[in-house]
Amino acid sequence: MSRIKKIGVLTSGGDAPGMNAAIRAVVRTAIFNKLEVVGVNRGYEGLIKADFVNMKSYDVSNIIQKGGTVLGSARSQEFRSVEGRKKAHEQMLAAKIDALVVIGGDGTFSGARLFTQEHDVPVVGIPGTIDNDLYGTDYTIGFDTALNTVIDAVDKIRDTASAHNRLFFIEVMGRDAGFLALRSGIATGAEAILIPERQTHTKDLEKYLAQGYKGHKNSGIVIVAEGDKSGGAYTIAGEIEKKHPEYDIRVSVLGHMQRGGAPSAFDRVTASTLGVAAVDALLDDQKSIMVGMVNGEVSHVPFNKTIKNKKKVKDSLITINDVLSI
Ligand code: F6P
Repeated sequence: MSRIKKIGVLTSGGDAPGMNAAIRAVVRTAIFNKLEVVGVNRGYEGLIKADFVNMKSYDVSNIIQKGGTVLGSARSQEFRSVEGRKKAHEQMLAAKIDALVVIGGDGTFSGARLFTQEHDVPVVGIPGTIDNDLYGTDYTIGFDTALNTVIDAVDKIRDTASAHNRLFFIEVMGRDAGFLALRSGIATGAEAILIPERQTHTKDLEKYLAQGYKGHKNSGIVIVAEGDKSGGAYTIAGEIEKKHPEYDIRVSVLGHMQRGGAPSAFDRVTASTLGVAAVDALLDDQKSIMVGMVNGEVSHVPFNKTIKNKKKVKDSLITINDVLSI
């Protein structure tokens, strides 16, 4: 018999579509297993401030289809300190919360790992970030929806680019990773994709543009990951503009719209699967792990591993775009 009677669930870091589906799955799996469950508002901030709300099955009705997170999110500065984490632990003891499910990205898991090292609290993480940059899972919740949002936006930009024979530099999110940029670039037939994982020299970019945009096409799209070494869409667009005044260039930074909207079917199913898996893992006495998806199956990865290792972009995807963008 597990000693866990009451669990807390929180969302932390940048919100991602599908977080609500994960909250719903955690709450309902806990109740299904006769556990009490509390929602923690605004991530680790709420843990420190004891901002708790008891959750019943009906509290998570009608949220599976909603973007954002009903629990709110934050990037807590206080939880980065030993004192902050001590306060959070005291609040958990006072509220008789035995274990936590945290939904977020690498920052969330780094905090969770320290918390489990300093205090005897089991914590299981669910990967939720549009960046898809977590080692040990093929997909993070929110990535698929954000990808489709980016594709929708780029397709629209392509329409106007074609009408005016223009070259667009479109910046997409991803922090220091290029997963969103790479896949959205392939899916929209971009002429070039700039990602932090592979350096593209300006000369090479000029070559791609000469053969594609100026060769035989009536528009050009360059997808720029926000973390790319070129310094972002405005910087690289400025450089190309100086060298090629004959190009009609525009820049579009997609920004936070990439984080919003109703989650895709894929994200809802992944979030539901991982929500169930997270509570099962706690009942199975797991203490400091992330549950993820690898080859369609649930994976259990120690926080240690997912934090220390860097997920690699698939070289084959980079090659695919090199071939198809001519
Ligand atoms: O991690 C998700 C993310 O959207 C990144 O892609 C982006 O760099 C960052 O969060 C933006 O953070 P904020 O919402 O704090 O500006």
